[in-house]
Amino acid sequence: MSASNELEKAATAYALDAVRLDKQGQKGRAITLYQKAIESLLQLVQLYPEYGLNKVYVQRAIAYQERIKALQGAVSSNEMNEAAHNDNEGGGGATMEGNGNGKSEELVVTEKPNISWGEVVGLDTAKKAVKEAIVYPVQRPDLFPLGWPRGILLFGPPGCGKTLLAAAVATEIDANFYSIDAASIMSKWLGEAEQNVSKLFGTARKSAIEGKPAIVFVDELDSLMGAHTNEVGGEIRVRNQFLKEMDGIVDKGKNLHVYVIGATNKPWDLDWAFIRRFQKRILVPLADHATRLSMLKLYSSTLAIDSDVDLHELARLAEGFSGSDIRDVCQSAQLKLIGEFFESGKAMDKEAKPRLLTMDDFRQILEDRKPSVSLDMLSAYSRWFEAFKAL
Ligand SMILES: Nc1ncnc2c1ncn2[C@@H]1O[C@H](COP(=O)(O)OP(=O)(O)O)[C@@H](O)[C@H]1O
Ligand SMILES: [Mg+2]
Repeated sequence: MSASNELEKAATAYALDAVRLDKQGQKGRAITLYQKAIESLLQLVQLYPEYGLNKVYVQRAIAYQERIKALQGAVSSNEMNEAAHNDNEGGGGATMEGNGNGKSEELVVTEKPNISWGEVVGLDTAKKAVKEAIVYPVQRPDLFPLGWPRGILLFGPPGCGKTLLAAAVATEIDANFYSIDAASIMSKWLGEAEQNVSKLFGTARKSAIEGKPAIVFVDELDSLMGAHTNEVGGEIRVRNQFLKEMDGIVDKGKNLHVYVIGATNKPWDLDWAFIRRFQKRILVPLADHATRLSMLKLYSSTLAIDSDVDLHELARLAEGFSGSDIRDVCQSAQLKLIGEFFESGKAMDKEAKPRLLTMDDFRQILEDRKPSVSLDMLSAYSRWFEAFKAL
């Protein structure tokens, strides 16, 4: 799995555990885990500082930070020491600035995502499907007398462009992008999560009424709505509220441009109540050879590479790699080269330039890695797609 996927996954896992402990009243331990979630998110942002959607990660981190503050207010001094100790170790949270009392408006990513279609490599079928479902209805609603879908589910292996695609749609239609994830909802609003889900949808509707389309993006839909989440209190009610809101978009907001895009790597965890409200269900597949080639071109375009680098051959060697893996490979090759350059001491000479990246550099990185997605996983996605597809 690529480094960014791993960090994202770790952040979610920490946050969900934190929420669980939080509910059980284990404040000190919950704080520690929220802190770890924040650290993973901040590492992610540092790893790819230029990434158009970092705002979403920062927003998530702020949600956890606010929960920590709320908990620290109520925590016993003993637990506090424990938490403070962990806090010092990580230190990541120190840069976060939250502003208190968890309002749904704070989840709005006001800086709109800035991802163009061109940055989403391949995925032609998926792109076409989201254009038909969202972009065309926004541009010419008069051509859709029978209405159009409001719920779009993007599913497929990790790191293949689901988030990217959602962001590209939001950019294209100049929408407000409300990005939420299960752990943020639950942590931020413990106890009043349902009201806040409804407030969030209210805000989205208001945006649409004022003429700006709204996209509510729910990442890791499975962890919020999965069939297995009913053990701990709260989720069921949040889930039901969410379903109600989705129905509300269709009933009350007939002509409003409010859309819900859900993303999941584990579509099989969703139950039917959820699946059926996402009228469009779109597979975001693993890259094929041609797509890998285009990705390699894209991600190596800003690097200084030698003429012996054969991108076709690299695309062949990268069979099974996701877009996220390929970005990582290019970044790792470059980091290694720059590392060598510094080690050699030449970097201190401001005029000196590192050597060009060679085929061997790329080959070495590729050999050290395994594709993140297994064949078993791929066939599971196709099976699910066959059973539930709705393009
Ligand atoms: N189809 C793609 N085209 C270009 N880059 C991609 C693609 N898929 C993944 N990437 C790279 O990997 C990163 C993670 O992709 P993301 O959209 O978050 O995947 P997912 O949401 O499916 O897990 C992206 O920011 C991008 O750099
Ligand atoms: Mg994603």
